[in-house]
Amino acid sequence: MLPFTATALLAPMEGVTDPSFRSVMLGLHTPQTLGGSTTEFVRVVQHAVPLHKLASELGPCTGPIPVGIQLMGNNAEALRATAALVESTWAALVDLNFGCPAKGTLHGCAGAAVLRDPREVERLVAATVAGVQRLPVTAKIRAGWDSANQLEVLARAAEQGGAAMLTVHCRTRAEGYCEEVDWSRIARAVAAVRIPVCGNGGVLCHADIERMQRETGCKHVMIGRAALADPWIFSGYAASVSEVFAFIQRYVSVMRERAPQAERYFAGRVKQLVSYLHPRFLNEMTRAALLREADPSALHAWIEAQAAGDSAKAPSFEAKRSAVPGVGGVLDH
Ligand SMILES: Cc1cc2nc3c(=O)[nH]c(=O)nc-3n(C[C@H](O)[C@H](O)[C@H](O)COP(=O)(O)O)c2cc1C
Repeated sequence: MLPFTATALLAPMEGVTDPSFRSVMLGLHTPQTLGGSTTEFVRVVQHAVPLHKLASELGPCTGPIPVGIQLMGNNAEALRATAALVESTWAALVDLNFGCPAKGTLHGCAGAAVLRDPREVERLVAATVAGVQRLPVTAKIRAGWDSANQLEVLARAAEQGGAAMLTVHCRTRAEGYCEEVDWSRIARAVAAVRIPVCGNGGVLCHADIERMQRETGCKHVMIGRAALADPWIFSGYAASVSEVFAFIQRYVSVMRERAPQAERYFAGRVKQLVSYLHPRFLNEMTRAALLREADPSALHAWIEAQAAGDSAKAPSFEAKRSAVPGVGGVLDH
């Protein structure tokens, strides 16, 4: 049985959806608007990942929205043993990453590299399923390695291995994070398997959740970067500028409470969110200036003033810095 409480799910995003971010994001929503999430990928190499590492990737349980642990690796025995350990955490499922296109991952023949051989997908899913007794195992694939020709074969391989749900990120590994997406690939996966399919890729606004379901027949819809652009995308609530910066401020305070990192680290995380934020929350000149701000306290002061709805008191980045045109999110995953 899948644990999800609603259609829309928050995508795992390495370097972004850490426990602090997830607790603040999940805290914005009810289980009726945001149905679940997973950790960033946890690399599984030769041996089982120790329980304390799994627990720290998961973080403390902060609410009713289910969270799974995502594993990535190609060692079947290590995946089986790690999945068995996940059962003693509060995680609601084990997800397998067959989509990561990062060079290091592919070099280790994990992530999207597994898509080159559907038999490997089946073998790794089956090994993980063999490690669990009570938790469902789900698999997340891209539409293919360098083409989507094998999509049905890959989808059936995951089903055959025992996956309880298949998430299809509709771009191939070769397509990276290209803007154009082809949702008909999600519909092809839906037609190929009996297990529920979660569609992913290119959802940009709240209305797209229903549109993707309607156009593809998928049961769930997973949202990645658009949830960073607008954390309320799951409910469709039209947040104000101050609410969005209060969200970022809350994220910083949760990080500060949890991890004794340097202020510079928190500023880096804030800049990452700023780089994804929807243009209706800040203009491009301000975005560029914020991204170049070297002083963490100036950055935090600006966010604080915006969160308080007091833009008059916020240091004027536009005046201080020269303009740099359109900065987008950095994508190397
Ligand atoms: C910064 C970043 C990190 C990511 N890390 C992961 C990850 O850890 N595991 C995973 O399965 N996918 C990861 N992805 C892929 C997303 O989960 C998602 O499949 C992708 O962004 C497409 O969805 P979108 O078009 O809604 O953003 C990452 C994507 C981004 C942008």
